[in-house]
Amino acid sequence: MTPPRHYLQFTDLDRDEYAYLFRRTALIKRKFKRYELHQPLVDRTLAMIFEKHSTRTRLSFEAGMHQLGGAAIYINTRDSQLGRGEPIEDAAQVFSRMVDLVMIRTYGQDIVERFAANSRVPVINGLTNEFHPCQVLADVFTYIEHRGDIAGRTVAWIGDANNMLYTWLQAAAILDFRVHFSGPPGYRVDLQRADYPLSAAQAAQLRSFDDPREACAGAHLVTTDVWTSMGYEAENAARLAAFQGFMVDAPMMARAAPDAVFMHCLPAHRGEEVAAEVIDGAQSVVWDEAENRLHVQKTLMEFLLLGQLAD
Ligand code: CP
Ligand code: NVA
Repeated sequence: MTPPRHYLQFTDLDRDEYAYLFRRTALIKRKFKRYELHQPLVDRTLAMIFEKHSTRTRLSFEAGMHQLGGAAIYINTRDSQLGRGEPIEDAAQVFSRMVDLVMIRTYGQDIVERFAANSRVPVINGLTNEFHPCQVLADVFTYIEHRGDIAGRTVAWIGDANNMLYTWLQAAAILDFRVHFSGPPGYRVDLQRADYPLSAAQAAQLRSFDDPREACAGAHLVTTDVWTSMGYEAENAARLAAFQGFMVDAPMMARAAPDAVFMHCLPAHRGEEVAAEVIDGAQSVVWDEAENRLHVQKTLMEFLLLGQLAD
C-alpha cells in the first residue's frame, strides 16, 4: 500500500505543489461561483475530529466535502471515546479503515503526527497549538488573488508569536517572501521552539522589530491574530496587559505600502488586536480570506486523494 500524503505542516508540500494548488483553486472557485458541479470525491468520506472550538474550519471542510461529492462526519472529542482516553494510535487505525480522509483540530502537534503515523488515509491539520497550515494556505491564495505573486513581498505580523505566525514563517521559506514581526517581550518568536525549531531558511526570512509601526513600514500584507489563542485562556489578563500598543490601527496601516491588504484569520476582537476602522476598512480582505478556506481546502482534499489533475 502506498503511504498516504498528509498535510500536517506547511512544509509538507513543496513550491511546485503549491503553484499547482493555487492554480487549481482558482479553477475550483470559478466553477463553484458558476454553479458548475465539481465532484471528484463521490462516495468518499471525511472525518473531522474537533478537540477545540471552530466555526470556519468546520463549515469549510463540511461544505467543501459535500460540494466535492462526498460526505463529512463531525466528531467532537468530548462525546467520543477519544475524550475517555482511547489511544490516538488505536483511533487512527479505526478511523482510517472507515473513511478516506481525516481532519483534526487539537492541542499538541504531536497528536496529529501520531495519528498520521498510524493512519492509512491522508490526515489534515485543522489547527494545533503549533501550526495552522490550512489558514495560511487560504491567506496566501487570497493575497495572490488580490495582488499577484507573493514572492519577494513583505508580510507584517503584529502581535503574538503563535501557531499562525510560525506557519507564516514556514510559508515564507517555501514561497520566498519576508516576514516582519513585532510583539511584546515574552511573546516574541522563539527560534529554538521546542520540537519545531526554525530552519535556517525560515529564520533568514524573518526580521523582528520592537516598534510595530516599523514592522509595518513598506509591508504588502499586514496581519494579526487574537492575543490569546485557544488553550491559553488562563493567561488572558496578563496577555491583555502585555499587548497594549500592538493593536493594528489606521496609523500603522498608513506605514504599509499604499496597496497593502489587511488579513485576520478570525475570529477577531475589535479594539484589541485590530481597530474596527482597519478590519472593516477598505484595505481589509478578511471575508475573501475566510471564504477562501473553502476553496483551498477543496483543492487540498482532491490533491491528497487524487494527486495533480489536468484542468
Ligand atoms: N480561522 C479559523 O480557523 O476559524 P475557526 O476557529 O472558526 O475554525
Ligand atoms: N491563533 C488562534 C487561531 C484561531 C483560528 C488560536 O489558535 O486560537
